Parts: sequence; structure tokens; C-alpha cells
Amino acid sequence: MIRLIQTDITQLKVDAIVNAANSSLLGGGGVDGAIHRAAGPELLKECRNLNGCPTGEAKITKGYNLPSRFVIHTVGPVWHGGNDNEDVLLANCYYNSLLLAQKHNLWSIAFPNISTGVYGYPKSLAADIAINTVRHFLESSKVPNELIFAVFDLENFRIYEEKLNV
Ligand code: APR
Repeated sequence: MIRLIQTDITQLKVDAIVNAANSSLLGGGGVDGAIHRAAGPELLKECRNLNGCPTGEAKITKGYNLPSRFVIHTVGPVWHGGNDNEDVLLANCYYNSLLLAQKHNLWSIAFPNISTGVYGYPKSLAADIAINTVRHFLESSKVPNELIFAVFDLENFRIYEEKLNV
């Protein structure tokens, strides 16, 4: 089931929240900063051993002080106008995060709006990719069975509300 919630993703008690990280996995601003602040220093310690993450791929860590059991770190593409494979890379972020959730048999997962902040991905285009990738994955996978789009800003909320017809 797909749900849309306007919330700070660090508040959600789910099996995994997804972090819109950068390729170093060593923290940053935006949702990355919020997740590291809420999780505490142990998260960064574990991330240091992951040796970074290429754009479009995903890696999993524990959630530490977060209410969620795990954090799935994925690295979205920086928007360069749309002719640099950004759409495929963004779809890969959602797909690879879901694949990790399935591999770890996680039932509930929450996504932020990957790449639509600092990385400048147009929000409506990103929402289409997120929703289509998730819907396609859930057609052939029982897990995760609760998927939350955790939108933070009102613009994204309006966009998802309309596209999800909720
Ligand atoms: N909960 C949920 N969503 C949030 C939160 C939060 N606490 N804080 C920010 N967001 C939303 C933003 O409103 C935006 O819609 O997350 C979305 C992604 O924005 P960014 O966090 O800027 O991520 P992104 O655009 O993918 O850029 C990643 O920013 O923070 C750095 O280290 C990160 O270098 C990486 C880059």
C-alpha cells in the first residue's frame, strides 16, 4: 500500500527510511543532515566503513537513535538539464532501495523526495519517476508492503497528492 504523509522522515517508526545522501555517505545538509542528527554519531561511524556509494545505488545501515530500524542510503543524480541519464539514475535509486528492503525482508519503508532539494531535480518529473518505479516494483513484490512517500515541503505534497489521486 502506498501512503503520502507530510512529515519529517526522521520521526517515522518504519523498518527503513531512505536517505538522500551524497556519494561519500559522510553526511550533508537537507534530509541527510536531519537523519544523521537524529540517528547520532554511530550512524556516521558505520557509514565510514561503507566506502561511499555510486549515484543510483543504495546501501543499508542500522538506524541507531532513529525510530526506524534501518536507514537505506541512496545517492540521487544532480539535475543537469535532463540529458545526462538523470531519469534512469533517479529510478535506480528507488529500485535499488526497494531491492535492499526486499532482500532484508523489510515490511515498511519511507522515501523522501530524492534529488529534488540541493540536487535540483524538477519536483514533478521526480515524482513521476518515484511513483512509477515504486508501483512497478510492488506489482511483483510482496515486500515492502507499506510504502510511505514522506514529503517535507508543501510543493511536493501537492504534486504527490495530485499524482496519487489521494
Ligand atoms: N524529512 C523529509 N524530507 C526532508 C527533510 C526531512 N527532515 N529535510 C529535507 N527534506 C526534503 C527536501 O524538502 C527535499 O524535498 O528532502 C528532499 C531532498 O532534498 P535534499 O535533502 O536537499 O536532498 P537532494 O536534493 O537529494 O541532495 C542531496 O544534499 O544534503 C545533501 O548530503 C546531501 O549532498 C547531498 C545532497
